[in-house]
Amino acid sequence: MDVRAELCRCSSSGRKGAVDTLYERNRQTFYETAEYEESSEPPKLGDDFEILELLGSGAMGAVYHVKQISSQEEFAVKVMRAEVSRDKQLVKRFKLEAKAVESLDHPNLIPVFGQGKARGPSDEELPYLLMGLSRGDSLKALLKKGERFDKERILNVMVQVAEALAHAHANGIIHRDVKPSNIMIEKNESEEDLVKVLDFSIAKVNPVENRVGQGLTMTGEFLGTPAYMSPESCLGRAVDERSDLYSFGCVFYELLTGAPPFAGHNPVQIIVDHINSTPAPLPLDRGKGSDLEKFVMKLLRKEPSERYQSIEEMLVDLKALREGRKIKIEGMKRRIDEKREALMAVGVVFLTFCLVLAPRSLSI
Ligand SMILES: Nc1ncnc2c1ncn2[C@@H]1O[C@H](COP(=O)(O)OP(=O)(O)OP(=O)(O)O)[C@@H](O)[C@H]1O
Ligand SMILES: [Mg+2]
Repeated sequence: MDVRAELCRCSSSGRKGAVDTLYERNRQTFYETAEYEESSEPPKLGDDFEILELLGSGAMGAVYHVKQISSQEEFAVKVMRAEVSRDKQLVKRFKLEAKAVESLDHPNLIPVFGQGKARGPSDEELPYLLMGLSRGDSLKALLKKGERFDKERILNVMVQVAEALAHAHANGIIHRDVKPSNIMIEKNESEEDLVKVLDFSIAKVNPVENRVGQGLTMTGEFLGTPAYMSPESCLGRAVDERSDLYSFGCVFYELLTGAPPFAGHNPVQIIVDHINSTPAPLPLDRGKGSDLEKFVMKLLRKEPSERYQSIEEMLVDLKALREGRKIKIEGMKRRIDEKREALMAVGVVFLTFCLVLAPRSLSI
């Protein structure tokens, strides 16, 4: 079969793509969801690359399975969508951030090898990212297929996701879009799950620890995928690695219950829920009242200061849970404060009674 012709046929016949992302472009906020027509022809990647297959597409671009003629090796290439590539700031971010991600090297991450320029159907320049090809399925696809994840499998997968994020955080990179479609599940030689986290192309380089991201304005800022966005990113506040911990918690919750903590078709409602609502407890057969539930709920706390403060800190408890050991999760400080406030209020009433009302009542 001529794959390229098949691909063109798919494209021109209006293949559907699906995105579910909130982002800012040219000072406007865009929310893209559901399906859109994949109308454009495949891009031209130059003479050295042959496009074999369209692997999928998202808000930023389309991902192709390609073969490099010179090396005969196969890769994945993410090509920016033409509309997105018209935003110069977004292109600048894409390039700078991709450069930062190139420095990452971890067995649970899909490597990024470099960047290049493709040509779109109207000969426009489209930046692309050359990355390792994953032969696995995304967690999103597996969940959609109804693949079973028991507790042991969930813990094993999530430890690997956490190890990947820990490596990125140690290098000053926050993922900012941790979600099932960015987690690939392959099989190792023993047929066990091997996790590969991908899609750091919209990641934000932490300017405090890494100078790469400095000097860029907020235009073209990626905001997130509503179902997995932390309260602080919903509020447009500065995010740090604790925001990834919240999104990680949303994925964890989804694996346990079948849906993220706040879901639905209304992105505004989802965002309001992230800021205000408490996630429903886990079902009984998925650990209601257990240490695991306390652990996931700690990840999903609204205040970053109430969550684990780093992936490393969280990994200690996660590994303990995997080994069947007990963990100790302290209650929320705010609750302690509330208790303290309640106690103080009781104290004030008591003192008022003692100092003001009691003497009067005694004098009557
Ligand atoms: N390196 C890769 N190897 C194999 N498949 C990949 C690779 N990168 C992406 N894919 C596939 O392509 C799909 C689309 O990826 P893409 O990042 O464009 O969109 P998304 O993650 O669904 O949404 P978003 O744009 O919001 O991140 C993924 O879900 C995954 O199945
Ligand atoms: Mg992705």
